[in-house]
Amino acid sequence: MDLKLEGKKVFISGSTAGIGYGVAQKFLQEGAHVMINGRTASSVEKAIDRLKSDALRMDNEVVVEGVVADFSNKRSIETLTQGLSDIDILINNVGIYSSQSFFKTTDEDWQRQYEVNVMSGVRLSRHLLPKMLDKDWGRVLFISSECATLVPADLIAYSTTKAAILAISRGLAQLTKGSGVTVNTVIPGSTMTEGADQFLSDLAEKEGKSKADAESDFFKEVRTSSLLQRFATVEEIANSIVYLSSPLASATNGAAIKLDGGSMGGIL
Ligand SMILES: NC(=O)c1ccc[n+]([C@@H]2O[C@H](COP(=O)([O-])OP(=O)(O)OC[C@H]3O[C@@H](n4cnc5c(N)ncnc54)[C@H](OP(=O)(O)O)[C@@H]3O)[C@@H](O)[C@H]2O)c1
Repeated sequence: MDLKLEGKKVFISGSTAGIGYGVAQKFLQEGAHVMINGRTASSVEKAIDRLKSDALRMDNEVVVEGVVADFSNKRSIETLTQGLSDIDILINNVGIYSSQSFFKTTDEDWQRQYEVNVMSGVRLSRHLLPKMLDKDWGRVLFISSECATLVPADLIAYSTTKAAILAISRGLAQLTKGSGVTVNTVIPGSTMTEGADQFLSDLAEKEGKSKADAESDFFKEVRTSSLLQRFATVEEIANSIVYLSSPLASATNGAAIKLDGGSMGGIL
């Protein structure tokens, strides 16, 4: 299927690794021009080199650039937005979390997660959405999490930021009425990023079991509501994100789309 993404300009926050990196890879395969982002020049350069060599292996010529910006630093974001103008597709992907007791989560912990997870998308959308509306085409996609509704007890601050994203996304979609711009959110479940892989290796070592057993026990004991009963791959999540950002998904606007392997339950 041709997703009609050839030449579209894409910015993906927090994309030198994990889901963001996988999304960058897919956009490049579709012929989009991709701008990736991370906090350091070295991580951004490394990711660009990897993306280019992946593309070479598939005999693809790609246009990929990088921009260093830290979404926990307001000034860094001001500099970033000044340099971002002609973006067709904004993927608000960056997100941080820390597993901790609610009683030990300080104001600073709350503010740091809110700043990176929520204000990153607010600031980027405030800058780029008007330009999309002016040209009557654009896509804004937020990345929430199943935690927005599951709210694990050790991730209350993170879950709150992921719930806030749903309201922001729906609110911004109201501003696109009658235009060719859409704003949506995807809600991934547990996904096998480098971080998740490390988490499973550590758990397996700590509990003296294989990584496969650690994964299967995670779904038996922790994420019990999952119908998938395994981590989604980055590619599975990236496929949906890239489709929903494409011209083909023009009838989807103001939506929150679950990619949670059924963990959130409900009929909608
Ligand atoms: N993985 C999951 O199971 C899962 C499930 C549901 C939802 N999600 C959501 O999906 C999104 C991506 O998650 P992920 O697991 O792929 O993340 P991840 O692997 O932890 O993301 C790492 C990326 O984020 C960048 N990053 C971290 N802090 C940053 C900051 N302050 N400013 C700019 N970039 C920053 C890193 O860049 P550098 O290291 O190069 O600086 C790197 O590119 C997040 O919003 C997350 O909440 C993930």
